[in-house]
Amino acid sequence: MRKQAGALGAALPHDSAPLHVTGRAPYVDDLKLPGDALHLAFGLSTVAHAEIEALDLSAVRAAPGVVLVLTAQDFDHVPDVSPVAGDEPLLADGTVHYLGQAVFLVAATSHLAARKAARLAKVTYRERPAILTVEEALAAGSRFETGPITWARGDLSTGFAAAKTVVEGEMEVGGQEHFYLEGQVAAAIPTEDGVQVMASTQHPTEIQHKVAHALHLPMAAVRVEMRRMGGGFGGKESQGNALAVACAVVASRTGRPAKMRYDRDDDMMITGKRHDLKIRYRAGCDAQGRITAMEVVHLMRCGWSQDLSLAVADRAMLHADNAYFIPNIRIESHRLKTNTQSATAYRGFGGPQGIVGMERIIDHLAHATGRDPVAIMQANFYAERPGGSPAKASPGVSPPGPQDISAKLKGEVQTTQYGMEVEDSVSGRLVGKLLADCDYHARKAAIAEWNAGSPVLKRGIAVTPVKFGISFTLTFLNQAGALVHVYQDGSVHLSHGGTEMGQGLNQKVAQVVAEVFGLSARDIQITAADTGKVPNTSATAASSGSDLNGKAAEAAALTIRARMAEFLAGKYGVAADTVRFKGGEVLVAGESHAFARVAEWVWQARISLSSTGFYATPKITWDRVRGQGRPFLYFAYGAAVTEVVIDTLTGENRILRTDILHDCGRSLNPALDIGQVEGAYVQGAGWLTTEELVWDAKGRLATHAPSTYKIPAVSDRPAIFNVALWTEPNQEDTVGKSKAVGEPPFNLGISALMALSHALSFCGTAYPALDAPATAERVLMAVERVRHG
Ligand code: MTE
Ligand code: MOS
Repeated sequence: MRKQAGALGAALPHDSAPLHVTGRAPYVDDLKLPGDALHLAFGLSTVAHAEIEALDLSAVRAAPGVVLVLTAQDFDHVPDVSPVAGDEPLLADGTVHYLGQAVFLVAATSHLAARKAARLAKVTYRERPAILTVEEALAAGSRFETGPITWARGDLSTGFAAAKTVVEGEMEVGGQEHFYLEGQVAAAIPTEDGVQVMASTQHPTEIQHKVAHALHLPMAAVRVEMRRMGGGFGGKESQGNALAVACAVVASRTGRPAKMRYDRDDDMMITGKRHDLKIRYRAGCDAQGRITAMEVVHLMRCGWSQDLSLAVADRAMLHADNAYFIPNIRIESHRLKTNTQSATAYRGFGGPQGIVGMERIIDHLAHATGRDPVAIMQANFYAERPGGSPAKASPGVSPPGPQDISAKLKGEVQTTQYGMEVEDSVSGRLVGKLLADCDYHARKAAIAEWNAGSPVLKRGIAVTPVKFGISFTLTFLNQAGALVHVYQDGSVHLSHGGTEMGQGLNQKVAQVVAEVFGLSARDIQITAADTGKVPNTSATAASSGSDLNGKAAEAAALTIRARMAEFLAGKYGVAADTVRFKGGEVLVAGESHAFARVAEWVWQARISLSSTGFYATPKITWDRVRGQGRPFLYFAYGAAVTEVVIDTLTGENRILRTDILHDCGRSLNPALDIGQVEGAYVQGAGWLTTEELVWDAKGRLATHAPSTYKIPAVSDRPAIFNVALWTEPNQEDTVGKSKAVGEPPFNLGISALMALSHALSFCGTAYPALDAPATAERVLMAVERVRHG
């Protein structure tokens, strides 16, 4: 029930939309720095693995505009810029571990001067063998942690004995460049006691921590500000540390402001990307299509340093089941260390890598049994909680399928392989509704008929459901703070611990605060994330930005509102809970006063109109060594149906139509949520189709610019693109009963890959076994494979 137009649940545009589209929204690189500001560039390693024998930087130092050149030798302790393991020196300390690693740092009077000078170094390397692929890493035992991590449940041999059909295979899944439109950038200004940093980062507190450590300062002497990013997508959780630390070091040594931004090619050469991996699998199902056993091995290519890889690989394992209950399951995960960029967080944080493996198995089983993949899915979805679904489900929802009924009869809640009860499954009903809405079965039959008369072009269609766990798996990160001020004129100032990267977090949190005060969202002044106002923040990540910061800001606003209500209750001799905040007015004892008026009274009565708020996610526990617990507060669900066409002569392919039904709980802002779903789908489909990263035999990333790395363009979006929201409220007590939306729909892009697989299946009888990204070349090779068995 929406009371207040302009507050919770209103489909308002992004607060910065007018600034975005007119180019007036300031980003870090737009900051006006004083004229003596220095501009920084790294000199990069040109080999993948070597000892540095000699470093001749005389030409660099002599280059025009150069003010300072630093190498590892210029530090007592080379600052560490890693997020967790302490294994990333700011500048290579004797050894280089990948091609693109920062070896030295140049500070010059302009960006161009710094970049030009950085190319003048003469470095002598003693090269060592480089480990580039997962196979090489496995053979050399090059890995993080001492061995693979294995989580299992049930008994595989019993499960396989009960199987009627067994499939086995290997799938290659590529990585992905973040391609945030605004590249990595940071600036630092020396202050009286320390330094102030402006950085394009999802994690201001970590920047503060790293800078403080590098400068041997207390964290309190470092202030980090972040107004907005031009996209982060996980690539600005840890990968911005190096720039911010470099700027802070130069600012501290020279007393001058310093700014650093990577040009696009450098950004792609230096920074980590999504983990690519190989998935080995074996799975069996019975005559009803129920999966009786499944065994998966993830070979994750983590790159040269640990970064966030352990948590990413864990999340891949946590999503290896996707939306399906699998009684006998074993997941083995290898976190392999290679001489390449350090793979990092990327939308989904490993989840998509786990889910794509599961969906490949469904596709393979469907092919082997001659069934529609949907039939296999429906036989395996986690059951809906017995009696759990609200009777007042969304209008037009189809009646429960046979699967739901049998689970209800059994009267039990199913658990995941890691022991978490799945209390909120809606997969069966959600997929049923989507299939009905987009006419899946009739279209599939029509496609088969069309393909029979089309020797060159073949169409395909596929469904992908998703169940995505919400919360950081590192339990302590699930906390947030906020700071709300009401000024004496009734205007409201909002700070929270989250960062804005285009996802609309600030707008959503403003709507939450507006709802509490009975104001409209535009009455709430949004401000930059600032470590001086809200401390000890977690990265804005794991899709939890609005869940955590929304609750914290709501708590702060509720505290202030309670003080205002108490004051009025005293003044009018009524109970505080009879005071109402609505439509910019405060209603008390039959009178109505402007919110601003009441603020002024409360101020004059010497009552605080400022409050912090705090939130810690309840219920969650997680033991990552045993792989047991409840790592997530809840799951977000969704499903997509994608239709594609391939050209069997060239491998070229196109998405013709996509239909999505996605679960945002009770949406805080349906316009922003639909935008997130659309963007996530396109980014997910790009990952698995056109976005191909290629390293040459020397470990050089050959695809380091948009000329060679193909992200989806506007014209690549599905010609027909229907996105609808599943609106049942979250069963958990989240802000406004909403659900996180940032990452879950990324996984829906998997339906594009599976639709290509379906189209390929019309070329012959062999299983297409399509690797990703399914570029035109890969599709063409698969055409040949399917034709000739
Ligand atoms: N949307 C835009 N426009 N830009 C981004 O960088 N990042 C994604 C997602 N949506 C991103 C985005 C990622 S990786 C995450 S974890 C979430 O937004 C983070 O924000 P949230 O927690 O507020 O959803
Ligand atoms: Mo998102 S990968 O959790 O920043």
